[in-house]
Amino acid sequence: MKLSFSEPGLPKTGTVIVCVGDGSKLSASARQLDKATGGAVSRAIKESRFTGKKAQFLDIMAPSGVAFGRIVLAGIGKGLDENDQQALGGRLYARLNQAGIKAAHLAVEATGRDLAGAAANIAYGALLRSYRFDKYRTKEKADAKPTLKTFSLRVKGAAAARRAFGPLEKIADGVFFTRDLVSEPPNVLYPASFAKEVKALTKLGVKVEILGEKQMQKLGMGALLGVGQGSIRESQIAIMRWDGAAKSEKPVAFIGKGVTFDTGGISLKPGPGMQDMKWDMGGAGTVAGLMKALAGRKAKVNAVGLIGLVENMPDGNAQRPGDIVTTMSGQTIEIHNTDAEGRLVLADVLWYCQDRFKPQFMIDLATLTGAIIISLGHEYAGMFSNDDKLSDQLTKAGLATGEKVWRMPLHDAFDKKINTDGADMKNVAGRDGGSITAAQLLQRFVNKVPWAHLDIAGMAWSSSASPTMPRGGTGYGVRLLDRFVKENYEG
Ligand code: BES
Ligand code: MN
Ligand code: ZN
Repeated sequence: MKLSFSEPGLPKTGTVIVCVGDGSKLSASARQLDKATGGAVSRAIKESRFTGKKAQFLDIMAPSGVAFGRIVLAGIGKGLDENDQQALGGRLYARLNQAGIKAAHLAVEATGRDLAGAAANIAYGALLRSYRFDKYRTKEKADAKPTLKTFSLRVKGAAAARRAFGPLEKIADGVFFTRDLVSEPPNVLYPASFAKEVKALTKLGVKVEILGEKQMQKLGMGALLGVGQGSIRESQIAIMRWDGAAKSEKPVAFIGKGVTFDTGGISLKPGPGMQDMKWDMGGAGTVAGLMKALAGRKAKVNAVGLIGLVENMPDGNAQRPGDIVTTMSGQTIEIHNTDAEGRLVLADVLWYCQDRFKPQFMIDLATLTGAIIISLGHEYAGMFSNDDKLSDQLTKAGLATGEKVWRMPLHDAFDKKINTDGADMKNVAGRDGGSITAAQLLQRFVNKVPWAHLDIAGMAWSSSASPTMPRGGTGYGVRLLDRFVKENYEG
């Protein structure tokens, strides 16, 4: 789909979309069309339930007096905020394709004070919705494929709209990268092939370094290596650096869980639904997508992204329940359940990150616990943090982008639960507060650096579409963290 911005003025043919506010308040273009069609617009409204509410639409087919095949009325309620604008774009994209339309024009009017910004956000929403992971479909019929080839936004201040769209398009590139990574099957995306995908970011000016098992052994990363030892695929850590600010500025750091497939290991998961564990690398996918977005829009920040890439398999060489591993930090962990592997991977990557980069703060993302889905469903990521300022900044960025986070508690009382006799800690502590005890383990590896942990187990994948997302990999977190960086850490 080609998105374009031009000054107001309606075309002669194709599909034209005009805005209508609450109480069926016609925008200028809607009024103009009503006149040109001998009142077809107001008659159609009268004959329907359409009142101009947000997310309402009304199609008027083949009206006389004009050459358009179709007029679409788009409800905008009392006006649209940024998320509403994106949702409008996404909904229009889906509807226009459903209807088999090839070319559409939207008159951006009355959607808010900043019309150019609104147009950019509507286009952004349409773009986000247009994502498709169809590379493995060999038999899809042409009539099931999207039809919309051009979507033109008519707006006063088209040049400003085009400018505003520039960075949004780069963020979408990052979101799509994450969605691609999350969608790839685990026979294609494994630690080394994931690392190779990340290498491609060098084209955007990201510096990429890959650590293999030999280097990790030298560093003493016994926890991460223990998880990967049952897999024939070599574990990897990919380190991405985007230097967009002065050298003297400490980096901000993002860390991702990248379990390219989680069978549970010897504590094997039940069979049904196990295919979902291909997206247990969602946290790493988000970090990679975020780095792509930051580099793409040339963010004025120094950022590092570190992802721990492993495959958790049962095998003759696999880690056993009862094993004790020594982490890079020197702390020891007794394995009580090999399916609680994400925290083991993150323990070493978090420690390595603060040790090497001395970052301003660390934010990790992980599809860490099923328990967080029980707590928060698919609406909020769980956020755990040792820093109120960081939490507030993340909460705000979540509301602004619609990628919401909900703060969960950390407390000594939970921390104690992972103590054990045989080692410094065990990797699980029973079902109660399962997401919290997982976060407590991570906290033992952040060395008092300001830190937030986002448990995104409920967010990385969606079985239903939303306005700006088809179903499947969501790319959750890229927009959240891009906004968080932009609002708080850029010059
Ligand atoms: N990757 C899973 C968590 C998960 C579950 C993500 C469902 C997405 C959907 C994680 O490695 C895991 O297996 N966690 C266990 C921990 C338990 C053994 C303490 C869990 O949540 O059941
Ligand atoms: Mn697991
Ligand atoms: Zn896992």
